[in-house]
Amino acid sequence: MTALHIDAGEVVLRKAREADREALIAHVTDADVRAHLGGPQPRAGVERDLDEAGIAAVTAAPGAYLIAVKPTGDFVGTMSLTRRGVHHPGHVTPDGEELELAYTLSRSAWGRGLAFAAASALLRRAAAELPAEPVIIVTQSANARSLNLARRLGFTPAMTFEEYGCQQTLAVVNLGEFAVPQAP
Ligand SMILES: CC(C)(COP(=O)(O)OP(=O)(O)OC[C@H]1O[C@@H](n2cnc3c(N)ncnc32)[C@H](O)[C@@H]1OP(=O)(O)O)[C@@H](O)C(=O)NCCC(=O)NCCS
Repeated sequence: MTALHIDAGEVVLRKAREADREALIAHVTDADVRAHLGGPQPRAGVERDLDEAGIAAVTAAPGAYLIAVKPTGDFVGTMSLTRRGVHHPGHVTPDGEELELAYTLSRSAWGRGLAFAAASALLRRAAAELPAEPVIIVTQSANARSLNLARRLGFTPAMTFEEYGCQQTLAVVNLGEFAVPQAP
């Protein structure tokens, strides 16, 4: 993914900047946001990591973004389309390294279709850059909101397995589904 900025209607996907620091810290220390992600991260550790690595490190990987609302540009979440390392369980291709979609929204932004809009735009952009291939979402089987979002995006549950002491559901779609047909 080469894009640094992706328009998604009410929200944009963009890279992190210094002004996001407090919102990011509040986000990863929030019990609701982290309920199915191993619990809230301790504030001191988050601050130390940001001091050491810098805020830009949060979205340094190609395909890693923050979600921001228009017109203020304020942080409302995170979204990434990156490769799932072979050392993780849960793969649908022999070599692993599938494209994996991940997302988190601030609690106050849930229920407005913002994650759906951001993910749709990101997948359309990826489909314009990359050949058709499987894209996966891995989420705790207990994470109903995440599974609903996956289903609305067109992902189909393909398997369950254990990771981090919890049952995970892997859902899959082909990136080609998001390709916008070219005008003749
Ligand atoms: C997973 C998560 C991003 C889903 O957020 P969400 O707001 O429910 O997802 P969507 O963007 O698809 O929005 C769907 C909701 O918006 C509503 N909505 C309103 N306008 C909409 C629109 N134009 N399009 C789609 N949905 C719309 C839907 O009806 C639905 O409402 P409901 O929750 O009452 O059913 C969010 O719950 C979250 O951040 N959870 C914590 C982090 C996490 O667990 N992430 C997953 C890790 S794998």
